[in-house]
Amino acid sequence: MRNRAASDGRPLGVPWSRARAIPAARSTHQETFLNTTGQTTGPDTSVSGPDTSASGPGPSASDPGAFASGPSTDTLGVSAARARSATLEKLILENPGRFRVLTGDRPTGRLHLGHYFGTLRNRVRLQNLGVEMFVIIADYQVLTDRDVADNLTEHVEELVLDYLAVGVDPARGTIFTHSAVPALNQLMLPFLSLVSVAELNRNPTVKDEIAHSRQSAVSGLMFTYPVHQAADILFCKANLVPVGQDQLPHLELTRTVARRFNDRYGSGTAVFPQPDALLSSAPLLLGTDGTKMSKSRGNAVTLAADADETARLIKGAKTDPERHITYDPATRPEVSSLLLLAALCQDRPPQEVAADIGSAGAAALKKIVTEAVNECLAPIRARRAEYARDRAYLRQVLREGNERARGVADATLAEVRTAMNSRY
Ligand code: TRP
Repeated sequence: MRNRAASDGRPLGVPWSRARAIPAARSTHQETFLNTTGQTTGPDTSVSGPDTSASGPGPSASDPGAFASGPSTDTLGVSAARARSATLEKLILENPGRFRVLTGDRPTGRLHLGHYFGTLRNRVRLQNLGVEMFVIIADYQVLTDRDVADNLTEHVEELVLDYLAVGVDPARGTIFTHSAVPALNQLMLPFLSLVSVAELNRNPTVKDEIAHSRQSAVSGLMFTYPVHQAADILFCKANLVPVGQDQLPHLELTRTVARRFNDRYGSGTAVFPQPDALLSSAPLLLGTDGTKMSKSRGNAVTLAADADETARLIKGAKTDPERHITYDPATRPEVSSLLLLAALCQDRPPQEVAADIGSAGAAALKKIVTEAVNECLAPIRARRAEYARDRAYLRQVLREGNERARGVADATLAEVRTAMNSRY
C-alpha cells in the first residue's frame, strides 16, 4: 500500500498556467513539497533570510489576475515574495536536500479540486524532487473561527486519506496533528512574549477571518493563532513554507519571531531559521456557484466524490447565457473557471479547450469538464478507496508521524529552554 506513484509528476507551472495563474485566496493550500532523510537536525538555514534585493515581475500589469480577490495593491508584499519564490525554485532544483518544508491544513472537511491544483500536487512535486516535508493537520487551528471542532476524528482521517491518495508518502515525510505534539504547543508561550498586541491586531488575514467568523465573540486564539502557526513552522526548523498570498502575513510574523528569538536568546548562534514563503502560482478556481470554492459551501468537487456526484455538481454549475464559449476570466468568470478546470485536468491551455467547444454551448462545456475531471481524478479516487478500507493503516500513519514530530519538537524545545536559561 505504500509508495504508490506520485499522481502528479508535472513540473509546476506549465507556461500557460503560469502566465494566467494567480494565487488562490485562502490557499494555504498552495504549495510545494518534500522528501527525505528522516534526520531530525534542521535543514541548511543559510538559504533563508530576507531577500530584499529581489526584483521581478510584479503581480498586476503582467498578471491578468483572473479571478483575483483580495487587495489589488501589493500590501502583502506579494511581488517581492513572488520574485523570491522564483529564486527558491531554482535553489530547490539545485539542491533539494537544503530544504525542509512545513505545510498543512485545518481538518474541517474533505479536500477538493481547488486544494489539489492549488497545493496538493505541488507538495507531491516537492516531495518527489527530494525536499523533506512535514504536513501538519492543524486541529487546534480549527477553533479559531468556531466554538467547537466538529467531527474531528473523521476530518483528520479524511485529510490523511486525501494526502495518501494524491501521493504524499509517509515513508518520506511526516504527517502529524497539533494536539499530539505538546512541545510544539509549548513553544507558543515564549513566542507570544516576542510580539506586541499591536502587531497581532493589524494582521490583515486575521482581520479578514474575523469578518467572516462564525463565532459570536472573537476568541483570543483568533488573534494569537498566527503565533501558534509560527510554532508549527519553527518547531521543526522548516526553512520553506509553500503558501498562498493570504498566508504571507503569517510567514512574516514567523520570520519576526525567529529573528527576535535569536536576537534575544541566541547568544551569537541562531536557534531558528527565518523561513521563506514559497508562493505558488496556482490558479484560483471558482466553486460551482461562481463564488470562492470552499469546503463548507457544497460548491466544490471533492477528491472523494464519485463520478456521478461529480457529473451532478458540474451539471448544476453556474454559467452565462452566451452560447459561444470563450476564455475570458474578467468578463466571464464562471465559464472561464470551468474551462480552466478542464484545462488543468488535461494539461493544456484553457483557450484551446474553449476553441474545441466553440458554439456548442454550456452543456457541451460541462460535459467536457466532467469527463476531464473524472479522468484526472480516477487514479486518485481509486487509491483513496483502497486506503479507506484500511483504517488501521491510516491510524498507523498518524501514530508514526506524531511520534516523529514529537521527537523533533522535544529536541527544539530543549534548545529553547537552554537558550532561555530555563533548564532545571
Ligand atoms: N493556516 C492553514 C490553513 O488555514 C493551516 C496551517 C496551520 C498552516 N499551520 C500552518 C499552513 C503552518 C502553513 C504553515 O489551512
